[in-house]
Amino acid sequence: MSFLSALLALLPGCSGKKAPEPVLTKKPRGKVLIVCYSQSGTKNTLTVAKWIREKIGGELFEIVMEKPYSDSYAKVLIESKKHMDGKVLPPIKPFAGKIAEYDLIFVGSPVWYNTFAPPLGTFLSQHDFSGKTVLPFCTHGGGGPGHLYADIKAALPKARVLEGLTLKGHNIIERTFGRGTADKCSPSEVTEWLNRVL
Ligand SMILES: Cc1cc2nc3c(=O)[nH]c(=O)nc-3n(C[C@H](O)[C@H](O)[C@H](O)COP(=O)(O)O)c2cc1C
Repeated sequence: MSFLSALLALLPGCSGKKAPEPVLTKKPRGKVLIVCYSQSGTKNTLTVAKWIREKIGGELFEIVMEKPYSDSYAKVLIESKKHMDGKVLPPIKPFAGKIAEYDLIFVGSPVWYNTFAPPLGTFLSQHDFSGKTVLPFCTHGGGGPGHLYADIKAALPKARVLEGLTLKGHNIIERTFGRGTADKCSPSEVTEWLNRVL
């Protein structure tokens, strides 16, 4: 075992155990939409969105900014903080579908400054979620979800927002070599969550 792989093995994962693959016991009725924003090169939050789609199907929409944040970690920290402090909703590429046609909507974001990233805020503000069931999910760098779920609930007062799924993404060191959700977590955590909340 190389020094690097030994070091990686010591880093905390999600569950760390190899349990038998759980079976999805509840399949939702109706149309499913999975919306997410994912910024880093490792695409942690998008990884979770794909796992959700693998499990229950549905349409996946990745939010893309009209003018994406910088690839530099130091710069994205500053750019996103400016948006948050100024309550800016940065323009995103349009979603061609109609939210009204979906029964169950997953919304995902990396945790940024203990809340969701501004581009997800743009999406939430552009659509009418009245009466919709929303399942939020996020990935984080070690600090957990912060107030992300409370903020999603506040942004969607007319939706029924269920318990969220929080998985580890990467911290600043892991970001440099692309170790993220796919290395630490597994789709079975999505199944366990869906069995609990649906
Ligand atoms: C601007 C910025 C702010 C962040 N703030 C937090 C935070 O408050 N708490 C935390 O645990 N991780 C934080 N992170 C780490 C990301 O949440 C984590 O790396 C996430 O998995 C990235 O997901 P992505 O690959 O979908 O972009 C932050 C990262 C960035 C770039």
